[in-house]
Amino acid sequence: MTAALLAWYDRHARIMPWRTGPADRAAGLRPDPYRVWLSEVMLQQTTVAAVRKYHERFTALWPTVADLAAAPDADVMAEWAGLGYYARARNLLKCARAVVAEHGGRFPDTHDALIALPGIGPYTAAAVAAIAFDRPETVVDGNVERVMSRLFDVKTPLPAAKPELTAHAARLTSHARPDDHAQAVMDLGATICTPKSPACGICPLRAPCLARQRGTEAQRPVKAAKKPKPERRGFAYVGRRADGAWLMETRPEKGLLGGMLGFPGSDWNEAPRPAPPAPAAWREVGEARHVFTHFALTLTVMVAELPPSNPERGHFVSASAFRPGALPTAMRKVHDAAAPHLAVEGSGATG
Ligand code: ADE
Repeated sequence: MTAALLAWYDRHARIMPWRTGPADRAAGLRPDPYRVWLSEVMLQQTTVAAVRKYHERFTALWPTVADLAAAPDADVMAEWAGLGYYARARNLLKCARAVVAEHGGRFPDTHDALIALPGIGPYTAAAVAAIAFDRPETVVDGNVERVMSRLFDVKTPLPAAKPELTAHAARLTSHARPDDHAQAVMDLGATICTPKSPACGICPLRAPCLARQRGTEAQRPVKAAKKPKPERRGFAYVGRRADGAWLMETRPEKGLLGGMLGFPGSDWNEAPRPAPPAPAAWREVGEARHVFTHFALTLTVMVAELPPSNPERGHFVSASAFRPGALPTAMRKVHDAAAPHLAVEGSGATG
C-alpha cells in the first residue's frame, strides 16, 4: 500500500509554498523547517487554499525564524487576523523566540525536542519532524483519520476511534520516505478520499480499501452526534470621529481574541448593555454574528459619531492606519455592519 501511495504522490503531489518541488527533491534539497512549521501551525485552523496567502505574506515579511522572533507582537497579530485562534499566534511568537534563544535560530530536528517548544503539540511535532527532517513519525490530521477509517473500514465513531486510526496510520508509515508519506496521506485525503463523493475510481489504494470493497465509504468515518453550540450575545460600540478615526481597543491578553484589536463592548454573556465608551448619541444599527469553535456569538452593533475629546475607554485609530483586514473576523463583521452608517465626508463609507 505504501509503495502505491508514494508512486501516486510522485505524480500528483500538490504544489505548496512550503514544499520543495520535484527538481529540488531530485537535487536532495530539504524543505525549510521554519516554513514547514509555519504552515503546520496555520493549517490547524483552516484549509490549504486559505493558508497559502498568509504563508506567503508571513515569509515575505519575516523570511527566517529569527526575523519573526524579532517582529513586534502587534504586527504579527495584525497579519494573523482572519486565521482565528489568536492564542496560536501568540504561541507562534513564543516558539520563534525560543528557537532563537535556545537553539541558535535553528529548529531542533527530533520530535522530543520539538514538542518541548512552546505551542508545539503532538501533531505539529510529528508533522515537522516528518516533513522537514524525514523522521518516521506518524502524522494524523482529519484527512488521515478519514483515509484510515475507509481503508480499514473502522466502525468505531470519532473521536473514540482516534487511537485505532492512529495505530493503522503508524503501521503504514514509510520508513524509506517518511516526509513524502506523511504528506501523501494528507493529499490523498484532501483530493481523492474527500468527505463527500470520494473519487474511488482513481484512488491508488482502491484495491486494498475495505470500505470500497464493502461499499461503506460514504458512511466512513462514523462520527458521534455533535451537541449544538451554545448561543451567546453581547454589544459592540463602533464610534467614529469627524476626521474618520475609529474608536478601538486592544483586547486583554487572556481570553477570546486576546491581544487583538477590536471594538469596545460588553462581555459576551447576555449581560445588559454596558456604559458606552464615550458620551454620544449611540444608535443600534444591526447585528453581527460569528460562530466560534465552542459557541455562536451575536453582537448588537451600536454606532455614533464621536466628539474629538478623549474617550473613557479605548483609543482612536486614524482612518489611514485603520485596516479592517487586520481585525479578527468577528470584529470585521461588526465593522461591516457599522461602516455604512458612519460615512465620513471625503473618506468614503468604510474609511
Ligand atoms: N495538512 C496539514 N499539513 C499538510 C501538508 N504538509 N500537506 C498537505 N496537507 C496538509
